[in-house]
Amino acid sequence: MEITLIKGDGIGPEIADSVLEIIDSAGLSIDWDIQTAGMNVVEQEGLPLPERVLDSVKKNKTALKTPVTTPIGKGFRSVNVQLRKELDLYANLRPCYNIPSVKTKFENVDIVVVRENTEDLYAGLERKVNEETAESIKIITKQASERIAEFAFDYAVKNNRKEVCVVTKANICKLSDGLFLNCARDISEKYPNIKLREILVDNCCMQLVQNPNQFDVLLLPNLYGDIVSDLCAGLVGGLGIAQGANIGREIAVFEPVHGTAPDIAGQDKANPSALLLSAVEMLNYIGENQTAKRIKDALFRALDDGIKTTDLGGNYTCSKFTKEVIARL
Ligand code: NAI
Repeated sequence: MEITLIKGDGIGPEIADSVLEIIDSAGLSIDWDIQTAGMNVVEQEGLPLPERVLDSVKKNKTALKTPVTTPIGKGFRSVNVQLRKELDLYANLRPCYNIPSVKTKFENVDIVVVRENTEDLYAGLERKVNEETAESIKIITKQASERIAEFAFDYAVKNNRKEVCVVTKANICKLSDGLFLNCARDISEKYPNIKLREILVDNCCMQLVQNPNQFDVLLLPNLYGDIVSDLCAGLVGGLGIAQGANIGREIAVFEPVHGTAPDIAGQDKANPSALLLSAVEMLNYIGENQTAKRIKDALFRALDDGIKTTDLGGNYTCSKFTKEVIARL
């Protein structure tokens, strides 16, 4: 079986090596088509996301991806945004749940963030009007809003969830967020067993940090989804354990929520768990459920035994952590 591995920047290569070693030690033979993307590639090939990367993902249909740098306020367009758009990976799925051995302020948090992944302010329609004014255009379409709502409700049905909460700022962005909300309302009528809840994004953030247990599946447009999913990651132990997936009709790219962590890159300090949990979801997606379970159990046992990287309050390096997970497979 061939799967694309996109190696990005910063801690990307370190956590990719860790996860490949763990999957290999679990006895699963995957023919990894390793593709590089990001800053290093710009220097050599002139652009951060060469066609070869897209071709590989289109051919293999499944990919595991590590983070890629996006220059802030200048430079090339986000590789992530481009990848999601080019491959029409319209649903960004980010499950956030407590891992028992990772102590946080709250217990039993079990939220699934479903984020629309192709439009909103990420459409990249920005321009400088004059020296003192810039504008960004927020695109929300009926087609994209309906299909992401359908994805959220389908997910709720398949995973025994009770409620989908649609998060917008439709009191201010009456037309754009209003359309997103109306689409969710329309789609919800096809799912009588799943409750639809509506909340404004500011209130949602406040409720999340006060009482996250009230939420089940969250459905959000792209920008709020990006921000709220980091907030949710923080509720359950931080970016080191927050997994994610970008899913389209035929193609899926699994990647952690976190970025390239330049502050710890190259120091063997990164927590590979978020990428590993994303890989576990990828294995479930391709039907390798038993190996997925063995890897997840080994990871949770290691955490239970106090094997933790510094982001979780421990002192294990990425490579030592990897060895400990492998020992528990
Ligand atoms: P970040 O997620 O890279 O880092 C935020 C904080 O979390 C840092 O203190 C970092 O050390 C820590 N952290 C993140 N992942 C960790 C891990 N696995 N183990 C231990 N600690 C971890 O966010 P930041 O600094 O805002 O972004 C850095 C770069 O990453 C930017 O260029 C940004 O555009 C890019 N980025 C890429 C993403 C992707 O490729 N999917 C997603 C988010 C950001």
